[in-house]
Amino acid sequence: MNAEGRSRLDQLPEWTALGKHREQLGKVHLRELFERDPGRAERYTLRVGDLHLDYSKHLVTDETLRLLGELASATGVAELRDAMFRGEKINITEQRSVLHIALRAPGSAVIKSDGENVTPAVQSVLTKMGTFADRVRSGDWKGHTGKRIKTVVNIGIGGSDLGPAMAYEALRAYTHRDMQFRFVSNVDGADLHEAVRDLDPAETLFIIASKTFTTIETITNATSARDWLLSGLRAGGEAVAQHFVALSTNAEKVTEFGINPDNMFEFWDWVGGRYSFDSAIGLSLMVAIGHERFREMLAGFHLVDEHFCSAPLHENAPLLLGLLGIWYGNFWDAQSHAVLPYSHYLSKFTAYLQQLDMESNGKSVDRDGHRVNWQTGPVVWGTPGTNGQHAYYQLLHQGTKLIPADLLGFAEPVADLQPGLVPQHDLLMANLFAQGQALAFGKTPDEVRAEGMAEELVPHKTFPGNRPTTTILAKELSPSVLGQLIALYEHKVFVQGAVWNIDSFDQWGVELGKVLAKRVEPALTDGAEVPGLDASTAGLVAKYRALRGR
Ligand code: F6P
Repeated sequence: MNAEGRSRLDQLPEWTALGKHREQLGKVHLRELFERDPGRAERYTLRVGDLHLDYSKHLVTDETLRLLGELASATGVAELRDAMFRGEKINITEQRSVLHIALRAPGSAVIKSDGENVTPAVQSVLTKMGTFADRVRSGDWKGHTGKRIKTVVNIGIGGSDLGPAMAYEALRAYTHRDMQFRFVSNVDGADLHEAVRDLDPAETLFIIASKTFTTIETITNATSARDWLLSGLRAGGEAVAQHFVALSTNAEKVTEFGINPDNMFEFWDWVGGRYSFDSAIGLSLMVAIGHERFREMLAGFHLVDEHFCSAPLHENAPLLLGLLGIWYGNFWDAQSHAVLPYSHYLSKFTAYLQQLDMESNGKSVDRDGHRVNWQTGPVVWGTPGTNGQHAYYQLLHQGTKLIPADLLGFAEPVADLQPGLVPQHDLLMANLFAQGQALAFGKTPDEVRAEGMAEELVPHKTFPGNRPTTTILAKELSPSVLGQLIALYEHKVFVQGAVWNIDSFDQWGVELGKVLAKRVEPALTDGAEVPGLDASTAGLVAKYRALRGR
């Protein structure tokens, strides 16, 4: 037993039982599983809100699911979930509640952090955001020279960028098409340069999104944006008020930067950066889609929150997806997980999930401070279909690695698609279905031979199949459906962290690089001596300076 009274994961009988079960399954093939069990596709399909989820193309049997369910019970997933919803400080290394679920709870909900109901504050910020969004959308909010705002530039990084940027792309069809929205994150000046070079400062609004308001990339870009604005307007600091708003937990730093606290939209330390786009961090999205649509999105999140808390194992989508990931990562040696959306609008979805999953579960020390003896979070990757099919799907189909994948698609194209383009949608979706089929069932040597193939080419043209996928289908990519999808993945990540017994809500692994960059920067700029710099980095610094003529 460890300090929390929980045995180490790899010593649990439920873990050992899964290992044995994996051995017994041996070289099981999905073809065989489907042949043996005609009811499989129907049984391994579930519905959550508007999401239809088919997990039948997984290398599992009823027994696998039973054993995975037992593992979830033995590792206290439900208990940790309930503790999270109760506002307990389950982010143990930072001693914080983890309450992103409160951001989308109804106004009548009572959810406490440190004994205080957080719902009224959440609702009050949402109302303030709604009023602001309406004013910008209607043109009532004017810039310093009296012009209406035409372009909103969100400056933030990590969770303060990826969420709103992803959701803006996802919900393009619902956005105010007469306005432009841009997202700047990289400290590479090129990012801001390209974002503003064709803009009129008089018509531009900057939203500075930073939970801490100390993140070097964001503060550097925000400072440069302020310089660009003031010099473009030939104005003094008084112009900032009409062109800069802040989204942050840190009122002091926001004021120090020169933004009026009235123009700050607050959130709280119990909202993790990568779980924050349904907080004030979503302001740019709200301006883009309007507050009613934003609320629809929140309702979608909430629907899945409730489902996660109440559905039994076989119907609990986040629980199942989390456990399936554990099955492959811990018992099939899968190292990565592909997320393949068949929607151009989800072009930033996987990048968003990379932070959600990899910053949450990329840990190798458990909640008690012991090094883990088991694999934790996978490498998450992927791009929209069908582009990936002409790039890396070769490896998915015939490579030596097992890469479980999620295939996401929508029955309807977006409502405002040009009518002439609508027929392409069936072709897009046919590709999704075909890929799931090919990955699962492949093509046997006999099937290749039956096509009259020369014998020496048969091995090359054979598809082994047995590549597991989950297919997630919805009627359309609406704000609510987007909320449902994100909550599904948030809770999946939660389940995995709970089983692995890691703190999914801190991110200490990003700190060292930040400190070292600060230490090295003066060496690049002024040639300052950096004590203790290793020979390789010192050589690179010297080369850089020489190339810059310094
Ligand atoms: O990458 C580390 C991190 O702290 C993320 O967790 C966070 O989303 C990002 O930096 C940005 O932080 P902030 O919103 O405080 O600027």
